[in-house]
Amino acid sequence: MEAPDWWRDTVVYQIYPVSFKDTTGNGKGDLNGITSKLPYLKDLGVEVVWLSPVYASPMVDMGYDISNYREIYPDFGSMADWERMVEEAHRIGLKVVMDLVVNHTSDQHEWFQDAKNGGPKKDWYIWRRKNKEGKEPNNWGAIFGGSCWEWNDKLQEYYLHVFDVSQPDLNWENPVVREAVWDVMRFWLDKGCDGFRMDVINCISKTPGFPDAPVTDPQNPYQYGLIHRFNGPKVADHLLEMHEKVLRYYPNAFTVGEAPGVKSAEQALPLVKNGVPLQMLFHFEHMYIDHQPGKTCFNYKPWKLTELKDVLGKFMEFNQANGGWDSLYLENHDQPRIVSRWANDGLYRDVSSKMLAIFHATGRGTLFLYQGQEIGMANPTSWDFDELRDLEEIQYYEAVEAKNGDIQDALKQIQRIGRDNSRTPMQWNADVNAGFTSGTPWIKVNQDYKAWNVEAQSTSSGMSVLKFWKLVLRNRKEHPGLIRGKFEMVDYENENVYAYTRTDAIGQYLIVCL
Ligand code: NOJ
Repeated sequence: MEAPDWWRDTVVYQIYPVSFKDTTGNGKGDLNGITSKLPYLKDLGVEVVWLSPVYASPMVDMGYDISNYREIYPDFGSMADWERMVEEAHRIGLKVVMDLVVNHTSDQHEWFQDAKNGGPKKDWYIWRRKNKEGKEPNNWGAIFGGSCWEWNDKLQEYYLHVFDVSQPDLNWENPVVREAVWDVMRFWLDKGCDGFRMDVINCISKTPGFPDAPVTDPQNPYQYGLIHRFNGPKVADHLLEMHEKVLRYYPNAFTVGEAPGVKSAEQALPLVKNGVPLQMLFHFEHMYIDHQPGKTCFNYKPWKLTELKDVLGKFMEFNQANGGWDSLYLENHDQPRIVSRWANDGLYRDVSSKMLAIFHATGRGTLFLYQGQEIGMANPTSWDFDELRDLEEIQYYEAVEAKNGDIQDALKQIQRIGRDNSRTPMQWNADVNAGFTSGTPWIKVNQDYKAWNVEAQSTSSGMSVLKFWKLVLRNRKEHPGLIRGKFEMVDYENENVYAYTRTDAIGQYLIVCL
C-alpha cells in the first residue's frame, strides 16, 4: 500500500516532449518516443514523469498556449499513443503527471473565439474599457513584453493577457470557468493521469480594482513585474474549491503549483499546509538571485552563496517547523542548465555536475530532475538570432534592436539565461542529431553531444555523471533521513561552502558542497 504522503519521498523527472525523442522523423519529440524511453527512466531511479503540455496548441509558447484541453497536439501523436504511454508507465511502476495550464488559454481556443466575438463566453475572459485618457486600463506590462492589454475593435474593450498577446487570461471570478477547469481535470484523472503540475497557479487571482503597478522603468509605459498580476486575494479560495470539487476524490493524485512571486514559505503555507490544497509549490526565489529586482531575467546581478542559503535554508527551516513541504528543482524548460549557471561547464563540468547532484538530492523536499540534467547537459556556447526559438528571447532581442541597443550583448544574455538553453534536444548518443531525430531538429542540437550523451555515460568504465545520479537516487531511497530528516544549516556565513546536516533516528548526515 502506498503511503498517503508518498509524494514527499518521490523523484519526478520532467520531460519537455518536443525535445525528448522523435520517432517519426519530423524533428519534434513525440509520445511514442517517451514510451520508448520509459525503461531508461525506471532504471535511472525516477518514479514520476511530468510532461510539459502535449495538448492541441498553436505552439506560440511551445504548448503553454492550449487550444483544446482534450486533444493531443498531432505532431506528438494521438490520444491512443497517450493511453499506451500511460499504460506502459503504470505497468513498470511509473506515474504520469500532466501540465495543467489554466490561468490562460490560447487565443485559438474555441472559448476565446466565442468570447472575442461577444458570444456567451465573453465573461470567461477579462475585459476592461479604455481609461479616462483613452488608454489601457492600467500600466501592467506583459511578461513577454508590451502591455498586458489588447484592444478588441468589435467589443470596444481590451482583454487581459499577463503573458503573450496570444494567451488571454481566464476569468476565475466566473464560477462557470472554474467548473470548466474542474471538468478538464476530471477528464485526465479519469483517463489515468496521476496528477498535475499547475502552470502559474498563483496568477489565477489578480489584485481587485487592477491598480497600477509600481513604476520601475519610467521610460516605458508598461511596467514589467508580477505585482498585482499574481498572488491576488482569491488564490487560496480557488484552490480550496479545486480540492473540494476534484482533488479530494483522487487522494493519490500528485500536485505541484508553479508560483512565481511567492517570496517566502510563510506566504506559501496556506496553499500547501499538510498537502492541502496542493502538496507543494515551485517558488522562484533561488532562480531570481541572479536578476536585478523588478527587471527581466536578462538583467544580470552578481550574487553570493549566503543569498542562496538565505533563500533555500529559510524555506526548508520554516516548512519543517510548520507543516509545509518544498519542491527541489534547479532546472526546467524555463531556466538555463544549472552546471552552466551556478558551476563550471568547462574543465570542471563533470565534478561540478556531481556536486550539484548531491546538493540537489539531499535537500528537504520532493526532487525534480529535468531531462538531460542527469548527464550534465550544458548551455550551448552561443546562439545566433536565427537559431532562437523562444518567443521571450526573440521579443527581448527585437526590443534591444529597436532601441539601437547592443545586440551582441543581447545574444550573450540569451546564452547565459535564455529558455532555449534547456530546450535543445536530449542527447541520447553520438549518432547524428544526438540520436534525437533522423530528421531536422526543430531547434539546434548542442554541439557537445558526441562527448556528452546517455550512451557514452552508460557504457564508460568510470563514474559518469549519469552513473553518479543513479547512485545518488539509490542512496536517497535507502536513507530516508536524507529526505525527511531534520534539516540544519552549518557554517552559515561561509561564502565558499554550502553545508548542512540531515538527522533522523538512525543517524546524522553531513553534506558539504564546495
Ligand atoms: C510558465 C511556463 O513554465 C512557461 O514556459 C510559460 O511560458 C508560462 N508559464 C506561461 O504559460
